[in-house]
Amino acid sequence: MEEQKKKVLVLTGGGDCPGLNAVIRGIAKRARKEKTWEAYGSIEAFNGVLNEPQQIIKLTQRKTAGIHVKGGTILKTTNKANPLKFPEIQKDGSVKEIDRSNELVTKIKKLGFDAVINIGGDGSQKISKVLFDQGLNIIGVPKTIDNDLSATDMTFGFQTAVQIATDSFDKLVTTAESHHRVMIMEVMGRDAGWIAIHTAIAGGAEICIIPEIPYDIEKLVKRIDARYKLGKGFVNIVIAEGAKAKDGTIVSRSGEKGSEHVRLGGVAFQLSQQLKDAGCKAEIRETVLGHIQRGGTPTAFDRVLATLFGVKAMELVIHGEFGKMVALKNNNISYVSLEEATRESNFVNKDSFLVKAAKGLGISFGD
Ligand code: F6P
Repeated sequence: MEEQKKKVLVLTGGGDCPGLNAVIRGIAKRARKEKTWEAYGSIEAFNGVLNEPQQIIKLTQRKTAGIHVKGGTILKTTNKANPLKFPEIQKDGSVKEIDRSNELVTKIKKLGFDAVINIGGDGSQKISKVLFDQGLNIIGVPKTIDNDLSATDMTFGFQTAVQIATDSFDKLVTTAESHHRVMIMEVMGRDAGWIAIHTAIAGGAEICIIPEIPYDIEKLVKRIDARYKLGKGFVNIVIAEGAKAKDGTIVSRSGEKGSEHVRLGGVAFQLSQQLKDAGCKAEIRETVLGHIQRGGTPTAFDRVLATLFGVKAMELVIHGEFGKMVALKNNNISYVSLEEATRESNFVNKDSFLVKAAKGLGISFGD
């Protein structure tokens, strides 16, 4: 008689990120190799379990073959379904947040799952920790293009985002040069300027503005004027969406019902206006890259990192090591406790070699 197989449930939560499919494939392949485990996926984060009818698919060889090269997630995702604060739209249109974590844990167990792998960012891993404390056998896999999780040296998706931003930056340089313009390119990065600073160095920007270093508009105008005086006549600026001026506030768009965060975007236009108001004479154009940075094929590096995270997560499941999040530590795929995973964020340190090197290259942060 064939032995009853153990079942692991995989889900992706929060914003999507290049490499999610590579993690899913890594988990599914490693599970298949084990023979005693079967991998399943919950559609749209925990909604696949919470919603009626439930939406759970088996991660067969057919479903996962070749998906590591594709962006997005075959399991779909959402940032509007936190089971601890599940948004329930009321009859009058208002939103009431309810805690469905108990119901979720009960449902997962009733469905016969022995373990869960939650692929997600900071918010998702905080949920993992609460569910683990409620008795769920859970493993976290970190993801975010923002690279702002301190428990892992790098997250997959970040490198792809930097590559996309750099490719875009290169294109803006040639048009800036032709028109003698100031080009402002806005990249993602709510609280951390990792994408911005890496793109600025890779592309050769004159100015880089990040959330960690509030900018002084007068200093930026001086930097631009100095560059025009040299006769070069064009300037390329990279700015992270979460950046703000000294004594300023972040630029946000209106919040969406049930969303976990306010939408950012548009700081490039604010900066453009501030530069003009402060006397910048050059012609300025603004480009907001937005979700382009999260789409498409992951780079080879991100495919490898994501795949290794997937394999490691499945191995932790096999060995019954729950309450952990896989991580890259000193060039080694390892893990940390879920508590450590969510303790601190990873910000660009203004005294780091990265910032000093950028300044050494002549990049101004406006500080
Ligand atoms: O956290 C990742 C991120 O890409 C941020 O950089 C950005 O502000 C946010 O997600 C955008 O989220 P959404 O897809 O909900 O607009």
